[in-house]
Amino acid sequence: MKLIITGGAGFIGSALVRTVLASTDWQVVNVDKLTYAGNLDSLVSVASDPHYKFAQLDICDGPGLEALLEAERPDAIMHLAAESHVDRSIDGPSAFIETNVVGTFNLLEKALAYWRSLPAGTRDRFRFHHVSTDEVYGSLGPQGLFREDTPYRPNSPYSASKAASDHLVRAWYHTYGFPALISNCSNNYGPFQFPEKLVPLNILRGLEGRPMPVYGKGENVRDWLYVEDHARALLTVLEGGRLGEVYNVGGNTERRNIDVVNAICDLLDEMLPGSAHRPHRQLISFVADRPGHDLRYAIDSTKLQMELGWRPRENFETGLKKTVNWYLDNRMWWEKILSGRYRTERLGMSV
Ligand SMILES: NC(=O)c1ccc[n+]([C@@H]2O[C@H](COP(=O)([O-])OP(=O)(O)OC[C@H]3O[C@@H](n4cnc5c(N)ncnc54)[C@H](O)[C@@H]3O)[C@@H](O)[C@H]2O)c1
Repeated sequence: MKLIITGGAGFIGSALVRTVLASTDWQVVNVDKLTYAGNLDSLVSVASDPHYKFAQLDICDGPGLEALLEAERPDAIMHLAAESHVDRSIDGPSAFIETNVVGTFNLLEKALAYWRSLPAGTRDRFRFHHVSTDEVYGSLGPQGLFREDTPYRPNSPYSASKAASDHLVRAWYHTYGFPALISNCSNNYGPFQFPEKLVPLNILRGLEGRPMPVYGKGENVRDWLYVEDHARALLTVLEGGRLGEVYNVGGNTERRNIDVVNAICDLLDEMLPGSAHRPHRQLISFVADRPGHDLRYAIDSTKLQMELGWRPRENFETGLKKTVNWYLDNRMWWEKILSGRYRTERLGMSV
């Protein structure tokens, strides 16, 4: 079995690459453009694995993709490459349209031609798994959960671009019989996450004794999922999911942003008893809300659990503890990022 993973140098992609190599005997080809979010340091542990290969490629590069598919002849493609940060999509939506919409279209075109060229047996086994987000469903009020049949109502340039890509994948299945699956997942957290997102940003700000930003009043609710649980869910969907189906992936772990940041502060207090910044909660700083900030996301993942037997292994407390520990133990990984262009500044104010 040979798997192409696009976006394998990103946060979830690198967790997936590590999970596949640790739990199967498959060959993995990681196809990644290495944008600001792509980081080969996240793959040091597998870099010399003979089952692993890296190809630097933009999914918008048609001839490049065609040549890659011809040379590698994969049995499945898992598509994670994307621009993924909502705040950046507010400041600069065009990269999101380019990669998430045009790039996905391009990949579908090349993958369809490749799939059609396969001999019958191999063609029947081929899978294209598109990895997406629960943000395509829009915002929930205080009640209710996103199900696979919840209507799409994306509210940010990021979620609109992911919604468009989901629709393209769906259309390729229905129109061409292209063997595609889609999964929509809630917010991930865990090791190797670029420090612009809520959890790592606040861990690093807390460590440095700098203000820990919380948007608005911190009332926005997300359903948090530990990244390794997501990686296992993706493998489960690839191996057992029904073609043309959508599977929602969630941690059953709703938390308000302020609860997440308070929990980070308490873990830092506990793990750094000698820190001059204790209690870390004093660093919390409420800042202007994100424009159009969705109030609440929560996932009903009954279908994935009942049909394919997947369950998250971490709860929020165990997962967050592992995550904070990881950032304390892996300074080199994030210090290298912070010494580059990104310095944890505020993004997404649309100015
Ligand atoms: N992070 C989350 O909480 C979350 C939740 C649900 C779904 N998702 C989806 O999962 C996928 C992975 O998310 P992530 O958090 O790991 O993102 P990430 O930003 O950490 O990584 C994205 C990766 O894609 C690569 N990439 C970007 N543009 C590319 C292009 N044009 N060609 C090739 N590679 C390109 C980047 O270099 C990077 O390695 C995305 O599709 C995202 O929409 C993320």
